[in-house]
Amino acid sequence: MQIKIAASILAADPTEFGKELERVEKAGIDLIHIDVMDGHFVPNITMGPFIVEGLKKKSHVPLDIHLMIENPENYIGSFAEKAGKDDVITFHIEATDNPLKVIDIIKQTGLKAGVAISPDTDANSIKSLLNSIDMILVMSVYPGFAGQKFINAVCSKIETLRGAAPVGLDIGVDGGITPETISEAASAGANVFAAATSIFGKRDYSEAIKKLRQVAQDHSNPLIKN
Ligand code: DX5
Ligand code: ZN
Repeated sequence: MQIKIAASILAADPTEFGKELERVEKAGIDLIHIDVMDGHFVPNITMGPFIVEGLKKKSHVPLDIHLMIENPENYIGSFAEKAGKDDVITFHIEATDNPLKVIDIIKQTGLKAGVAISPDTDANSIKSLLNSIDMILVMSVYPGFAGQKFINAVCSKIETLRGAAPVGLDIGVDGGITPETISEAASAGANVFAAATSIFGKRDYSEAIKKLRQVAQDHSNPLIKN
């Protein structure tokens, strides 16, 4: 399986989103991760569909739209119309009582569906969905802010989910990813790594991405090796 590094633009320079996008693409990024926060599901407010629209016009790699919002079903349409079929919309399992309905709404737009799981939520809460989704996103920090410390305890959850997931399912990890922490997440079974600070906080994006990819590859779980 492919190791994918996603650049979370939450830590990019907001006055230069277009240029930042060009820079990370040139530096070899696989995905652009967009953190959408509503001030209800999380105590922070960030980006909406118009930012997705702007980034979509410029990007040459798929978007990974991470919805940290309540009632995600009400907003999927407005995000999806700005995005395209290779892009993923990921909602939080904690934000809905009917995840299958939300997955269905996403799939009807033609986009890929991802389910995110916060640090305190049990892996069992998404086990019944594993055959219906395109990606799992395991949060390794409490959703809301960039720059937090990686919570090691989520690695056992990644391991459980990798063991239970259909072969080839993307398992992402999001929050506190650095060249040090990525090794644990990779050996637990993640193959998609979202990072904000450890890419945009560095001077040389190419060096930063290369390093993350290298460590992830060196430590990747046998189940994700081809
Ligand atoms: C947190 C976001 C993350 C965040 C990661 O709520 O979902 O994607 O941007 O930031 P770092 O890599 O700085 O922990
Ligand atoms: Zn995120």
